Amino acid sequence: MAKTITVIPGDGIGPEVTEATLTVLREAGAELEFDERLAGVVAVEAAMNPLPDETLESIRETGVALKGPLTTPLGSGFRSINVAIRKELELYANVRPALTMMSGGRYEDIDLVLIRENSEGLYVGVEHYIGLEGDPRAAAESVMIITRFGAERIVRYAFDYAIRNGRKKVTLAHKANILKYTQGLFLDVGKEVAQEYEGRVEFEDRIIDATAMHLVNDPYQFDVLVMENMFGDILSDLMAGLVGGMGMAPAGNIGKDASVFEAVHGSAPDIAGQGVANPTALMLTGAMLLDHIGQSEPAERIRTALHRTLADPALRTGDLGGKLGTKEFTSAVVRKLS
Ligand code: NAI
Repeated sequence: MAKTITVIPGDGIGPEVTEATLTVLREAGAELEFDERLAGVVAVEAAMNPLPDETLESIRETGVALKGPLTTPLGSGFRSINVAIRKELELYANVRPALTMMSGGRYEDIDLVLIRENSEGLYVGVEHYIGLEGDPRAAAESVMIITRFGAERIVRYAFDYAIRNGRKKVTLAHKANILKYTQGLFLDVGKEVAQEYEGRVEFEDRIIDATAMHLVNDPYQFDVLVMENMFGDILSDLMAGLVGGMGMAPAGNIGKDASVFEAVHGSAPDIAGQGVANPTALMLTGAMLLDHIGQSEPAERIRTALHRTLADPALRTGDLGGKLGTKEFTSAVVRKLS
């Protein structure tokens, strides 16, 4: 029986890459029905609410969503709807694979997964200005929150992910040398959890800045990486750079009761509406979603078709040095599905 998933096309390049991804999902034989919902600026225009209740209810009901990017207005305006969705549905684990899809880039055969804590750290949004001598914004303060519960939950997720996916090592990256309380707690809890997996999955901890350097110098020494929210945000973009950039990076936000799959990239306003966006990241995200719901055959078909398409430099989008637009690229991927 077909599984119903919620689809949020998003804004900017969102609708273009979502349409491309739905085409490939259908053509790959995925057994899916789509419940399309609005969020972000398009939802404000249509319903005066950036996160309509029906959208959240649909995700709660289906348990799985495929989401295009949503623009977060700078300064005034509503707060990030991406963060709101993660909070509302308690999507605590952000899974970001970096997989080489075409040769000829900086590195060959990269196959890494970053597990980012998605609900705590500096991104809890506890911050304020401090006024001084007539200047209301003389200083600003943000609070980093790490809980034993949250740290344990994410590190355990990383180890379980490693076991489920036949991976050998988990690296916990941190800054416990400077942030002795918050990062120190994250590291201590991580070490405790790691003991339970001893003999099954290798464990190491590394300082975050050194990890960034090692990832660029010799990415092959890593396998699964786990870290708190902001470090994960930054390093996952770095890892996207190792495999060809933002157009290549898929992600899943995983919770206990629901999961939302989205590309790492944003709404790319600079190229929106031009038909040139690279849909690979969202197509790979669609494949992750299929794995998640137990439809691994069409998932593998999509990844293989993407590999075959991207192998030919003439079949690449502009961001990868090619000439194809979103629609032509999608047709090329569909032709390579078998
Ligand atoms: P961005 O990822 O949208 O764009 C960064 C650069 O990468 C741009 O030059 C863009 O053209 C390029 N790019 C991104 N995706 C691409 C694709 N699929 N194909 C080809 N080129 C691509 O990041 P930016 O500009 O910082 O953010 C734009 C908006 O997106 C902001 O409002 C931000 O808050 C939002 N955003 C939303 C996310 C989400 O919905 N999960 C994630 C990140 C940002």
